[in-house]
Amino acid sequence: MKKYRVGIIGCGEICGNYLSHAQQVYSDYYDIVAISDLDVERAKKRADKYGIAKYGTPDIVYNADDIDIIINLTVPKVHEQVTLKALECGKHVYSEKPLALTREGILKIKDTAEKLGLRVGCAPDSFMSAPAQSAKKALEEDWIGNPIGFNAICPLRGNEFHRADADFFYKKGAGPMFDMAPYYLNIFISLFGAVDSVMAMGKISFEERTIKAAPRRGEKISVEVPTFVCSTLRFENGVMGTFTNSFDIWSSQTPFIEIYGEKGTMILPDPNRYQGEVLIRRYKDTEWHTIPQFVEYEKYGRGIGIVDMIRAIESDTEHKANIDMAYHTTDVILSMEEAIDTHSEIKVNSTTPKPDGLWTNPETILWK
Ligand SMILES: NC(=O)c1ccc[n+]([C@@H]2O[C@H](COP(=O)([O-])OP(=O)(O)OC[C@H]3O[C@@H](n4cnc5c(N)ncnc54)[C@H](O)[C@@H]3O)[C@@H](O)[C@H]2O)c1
Repeated sequence: MKKYRVGIIGCGEICGNYLSHAQQVYSDYYDIVAISDLDVERAKKRADKYGIAKYGTPDIVYNADDIDIIINLTVPKVHEQVTLKALECGKHVYSEKPLALTREGILKIKDTAEKLGLRVGCAPDSFMSAPAQSAKKALEEDWIGNPIGFNAICPLRGNEFHRADADFFYKKGAGPMFDMAPYYLNIFISLFGAVDSVMAMGKISFEERTIKAAPRRGEKISVEVPTFVCSTLRFENGVMGTFTNSFDIWSSQTPFIEIYGEKGTMILPDPNRYQGEVLIRRYKDTEWHTIPQFVEYEKYGRGIGIVDMIRAIESDTEHKANIDMAYHTTDVILSMEEAIDTHSEIKVNSTTPKPDGLWTNPETILWK
């Protein structure tokens, strides 16, 4: 199979994670050949550390003739413009979430990609992690019976304690909803299918957050988005559950995701990580059991969505972390915001298919 040539736009915090996975885990599929940022010093620092020969301003990536895919790792408010420009330069795109901040923005990206015959993928891809896929296989093979409901929590306390530049996490396009809900929603879509309707309450617990990290220690960030959100979701297949999503929680012992089936309960690890145990306790069990890992590559991390997109381009099939999934996830989040504002249940207008399990791809089956 052709090895793809990839360029990165945005060399901030998460860029190193993409670079190390590309080099250590996904090198059979793609090479990162150029990296860029508006702040060229940032690009240089990463290029030096990871031995990337070409670095500079975004134009070196947009305009390169030898780049197939651009990874968009910029801040959320410019995701849409960077993705559109990358498409217009003839490149497939894999973007960090959210794909765009509005429904209209995502539809514009979809329209542009379709017209140009290019692919767009969108993070998070942790629903393709070994634990999330193992849970999906166990669920589909009836280990806990039909799923009835779930309880989920994202218990975070905010990034201003370790990042001096945590501002964007409290602005439109981030907050616990845009920043963290996609990890959970993509896993739910992978397990249950699309969301039918939502209800939600939310509040800004602290009007200002104080940066604790040098060199901006003591500076304030004004908070624009709810940081404690309790929502209820009903899926098209009838599954319903609750989701507490917050940047105000110091610690929690509640499982990240607990699924209640007709015959038992299943617990999934942190959806923002790619490792961890999946536990099951069936109705006759006297204790919890760790289920086997069903897909290969326990080292899967950020970037597996790019591998899946490359495989899909090569086999002319749909990739899993696609625009429809990103649209639906954003639509659900925006619907939750509407539910908070209107104190009512909001019907989610979009839908998206439940993606197939990775085990349908022979390359990823552990036992073969
Ligand atoms: N930091 C994390 O742990 C993490 C984890 C998962 C996903 N993400 C997502 O990744 C994205 C980036 O997050 P981050 O923490 O790396 O942010 P960051 O602020 O550390 O880095 C973003 C970089 O993008 C650059 N940039 C901004 N506008 C640009 C433009 N128009 N063209 C080129 N470069 C531009 C900035 O100069 C900066 O270096 C966000 O969407 C975030 O939600 C972050």
